[in-house]
Amino acid sequence: METLKIGVLASGRGSNFQAIIDSIETGYVRAQINLLITDNPDAYSLERAKKHGIESLVMLPKNYSSRDDYFREISSELKKRGVELVVLAGFMRIVGRPLLEAYPNRVMNIHPALLPSFPGLHGQKQANDYGVKISGCTVHFVDEGMDTGPVIIQAAVPVLDDDTEETLSERILGFEHKIFPEAVKLFSEGRIELRGRKVRISGSAFDGSPLINPPLSG
Ligand code: GAR
Repeated sequence: METLKIGVLASGRGSNFQAIIDSIETGYVRAQINLLITDNPDAYSLERAKKHGIESLVMLPKNYSSRDDYFREISSELKKRGVELVVLAGFMRIVGRPLLEAYPNRVMNIHPALLPSFPGLHGQKQANDYGVKISGCTVHFVDEGMDTGPVIIQAAVPVLDDDTEETLSERILGFEHKIFPEAVKLFSEGRIELRGRKVRISGSAFDGSPLINPPLSG
């Protein structure tokens, strides 16, 4: 099997970027990261790229004549390096059409809630404020909407009575770091099949572990 070439877009801390780096370095995922692009010159993701010998580019939207132009240039940098899958690891912008056209069903995003609940910014705060008992995280293909693309993998995470946005975010993040590398692995193994907006994963079996929160008392 060929090694999948990945491009990562990240705006900040990059802990999901790191989780994907680690999954590749340990051999769990057969892929290589050819480029990191950030829209934030202070992003800690840049340090992570440097440490792991990954090429990086800072691309600021203000230096481009339009949003389309910005995403056209991003696509062109990715294509130049042979990137086959684009991973949004905390990239805090809505992706422009030129990137989606260059990579149809080949852009993945991680969102810190069980979509379609709580899309947009601060998914964890939205869930905590709403009072749901279970939230979680979602990896999905990106389409032109806001967090609306086909769902690839989700993890359910309990919301506890005394959670704050921070404690819930931390609990969810632990699961983000598991499901994002997993989604990349499934993609790299050609196991993701898209039927309409439904994703089928070949060779996976339900392990019988539903999550009920609070647990049944009787
Ligand atoms: C993650 O929690 C990710 O799910 C979220 O930003 C954080 C980035 O953390 N993304 C979104 O909210 C996208 N709408 P990281 O930089 O440490 O990976």
